[in-house]
Amino acid sequence: MPIKIVRNDITKIECDAIVNAANSSLLGGGGVDGAIHRAAGKGLLLECMKLGGCKVGQANLTKAYKLPSRFVIHIVGPKWKGGQNGERELLESCYHESLRIAADNNCESIAFPLISSGVYGYPKDQALKIAVDTITSFLIDHDMLVYIVVFDKSAFQISEKLFSDITSYIDDKYVDTHFIFNRSRRDEYGESTVLAETQILSDDFETCELQAPQCPTMGVPKAASLADMVNQIDESFSQMLLRKIDEKGMTDAECYKKANVDRKLFSKIRGDAYYRPSKTTAIAFAIALELSLEDTKDMLMKAGFALSHSNKFDIIIEYFIINENYNIFEINEALFAFDQSLLGV
Ligand code: APR
Repeated sequence: MPIKIVRNDITKIECDAIVNAANSSLLGGGGVDGAIHRAAGKGLLLECMKLGGCKVGQANLTKAYKLPSRFVIHIVGPKWKGGQNGERELLESCYHESLRIAADNNCESIAFPLISSGVYGYPKDQALKIAVDTITSFLIDHDMLVYIVVFDKSAFQISEKLFSDITSYIDDKYVDTHFIFNRSRRDEYGESTVLAETQILSDDFETCELQAPQCPTMGVPKAASLADMVNQIDESFSQMLLRKIDEKGMTDAECYKKANVDRKLFSKIRGDAYYRPSKTTAIAFAIALELSLEDTKDMLMKAGFALSHSNKFDIIIEYFIINENYNIFEINEALFAFDQSLLGV
């Protein structure tokens, strides 16, 4: 997955290059600049002193000394002055210049802080969106693993309305699950009617195996032979994925880039008709293909998964699909706000 948004201290990230949100003197400062210089040790400062400073948007590469990376890329972000002074373009060039110099030095992985979103005052949610958009467009033609290291949750400022909509959706679904479970308990010991479905609930409920309706005319179907059953194997996850890519008129690259899945993993899936992806990878493809909820459930089932109403991650995914919002960035903002793992990103 080429872009990973992680909550961490950037000085702990093991990758080829970490990016420092520096100031024009390049002689260290507070925030991430201070953290990087402290972790790298004196050697970094001595090398920076030879650079003679740098301008906003200009990237400088040094060794990383005691940091767990090969290089440090020092970049000076724009100061936020209200958004009408070219801040966006300058911030975009910070990401682009850093990626360019990393690619020129054969880096296969890079970690960014949210440049300018601290002391320089850039609104964090806008800074994050610019980072994701600029990095995503760079990765169309380049293969590199990019970490966006978010230090605090305020970077994701999900709108109040979206947050409350999702919260009530989660409550509704979770209440439904509880209600069905309680109703079935009463039925099991109370009235004679029973539900004709098996309800698998969250960990704190045992699986509630319910009787199928007693229907004397409906005999139990004769079990086909094992060979017959194996020969009736359904379309696999990979086969459905490739079929849907064709049906949507997408290229393979358009699909796996939109799903934020790297080319190597996609070629594994394409090359193995019975490849079993992870649940988040399967969901990322369903979102990239903008599948309906029914098709999403079908594709997940072919990978051996289901969307369950006993966990928030699944309910949030279901919420976005039902509302036909396939913007993986907004989905991740919501997942992040609810402390769930992120899709692809
Ligand atoms: N790891 C990852 N992210 C961090 C860390 C860390 N150890 N420390 C801070 N951050 C985050 C902040 O939360 C913010 O979101 O990095 C982002 C950038 O904040 P700053 O470091 O303040 O950088 P910036 O806003 O670009 O201002 C640059 O601040 O530190 C001085 O010398 C620097 O003058 C320059 C100015």
